[in-house]
Amino acid sequence: MFANKKIVLGISGGIAAYKAADIVSWLTKNGAAVHCMLTPNAAEFITPQVLQALSQHPVVVDEFVNGPGWGIVHIDTVQDADLLAIIPATANTIAKIAAGIADNALTSAVLAATCPLFIAPAMNTHMYQNPATQRNIQTLKDRGWHVMPPVSGHLACGAVGEGKLPDVADIEAALQRLLLPKRDLAGLQFLVTAGPTIEPIDPVRYISNKSSGKMGYAIAEAARDRGAQVLLVSGHTNLPRPAGVEYLPVDSAAAMLAACLEAYDGCDVVIKAAAVADYRVAEPAAQKLKKTDDTDEMVLRLVKNPDILAELGRRKTHQLLVGFAAETNNVEEYARQKLAKKHADLLVANDVSRADAGFDVDTNQVTIFTAAGDKLTSPLASKRQTADFILDAVRARLDKQQ
Ligand code: PMT
Repeated sequence: MFANKKIVLGISGGIAAYKAADIVSWLTKNGAAVHCMLTPNAAEFITPQVLQALSQHPVVVDEFVNGPGWGIVHIDTVQDADLLAIIPATANTIAKIAAGIADNALTSAVLAATCPLFIAPAMNTHMYQNPATQRNIQTLKDRGWHVMPPVSGHLACGAVGEGKLPDVADIEAALQRLLLPKRDLAGLQFLVTAGPTIEPIDPVRYISNKSSGKMGYAIAEAARDRGAQVLLVSGHTNLPRPAGVEYLPVDSAAAMLAACLEAYDGCDVVIKAAAVADYRVAEPAAQKLKKTDDTDEMVLRLVKNPDILAELGRRKTHQLLVGFAAETNNVEEYARQKLAKKHADLLVANDVSRADAGFDVDTNQVTIFTAAGDKLTSPLASKRQTADFILDAVRARLDKQQ
């Protein structure tokens, strides 16, 4: 798979360094020439001998190695590389790279590299969320680095939270996408909606839902990586705005509808991953509602929101329309009903009663129902992998139309 690919794998000094061995083994088995560069701290977590045996190439820790064939280590190692990936990347190494510091073989090699750059940060939650680390990661993104964010889970420090290196299989899939990019959506204009809508009650309160936007953002990024032009219409989320994607933030269902209608004619594919509020408050208060002593109740009158997907279904000309369904029960029955009622071409059903799928988690498992009667079930996987599964179904459907 990776014959003729040279990959420089940088490893910095975190507990997740041991997982690099599996990645080196997988890349090597698939034909890549893997050259490992360890920071001195990484060599405390995993021995160069292990990586050398797996990669069958000398491993660099010390900048000042001498031996037959060695020139200037940090230049020679990266000069004809197809990819430089740092897995795991500690807060310290990320900070040095962001600042352009070159105080060891790996950070020096980064400055000399002209190939695509990939980084998978892994660290304690507070270190990851620290504004300094976040700013440094954003700096790398702005410079075009591919950043694979950490996931939530049990960390080596005993805490549970964000900062864990993603599963090796997910990292391998991300590396494969970078090394063998699919461009099968080039020339297509995508509209993707993501996140929740918010419907105001008064100036300080609103009705919303648990959507984090992760699924929709993963779809937007996957479509972009496969060559599509993407407009992402997003409700409020805490996610960074994806690079290389046109981005339109909205708040209410009415604003999302207006944005979708405006873009619709120029779109080839629309994917409605957003969780749109079905109802809004009929008369939002202009001023903050006050608690009163005379009653224990408050009654809000709700009115139906426009159904954006159904409206797009009604106006469909050439567009391929993909809806979602978030269900807690009778998933298949309700999904099939929505597919037909909203004139979608594909309907992606999420069983949101599961802890590992649907709202605000990093993984998903979906079943896609097609207007042609097919049913495709994805494996439980990262939302990025699920996004590619959905896009494969979109591509197959487009191929059938041609
Ligand atoms: O954002 P995450 O935390 O990653 O979670 C992902 C997700 C669970 C939000 C997402 O994968 C998902 O299932 N999105 C659809 C949620 C939803 O609103 O489902 P629904 O069954 O209520 O709506 C069906 C479809 O109609 C959806 O495509 C929805 O965007 C659309 N809709 C619904 C109501 C409305 N007024 N207008 C719409 O367009």
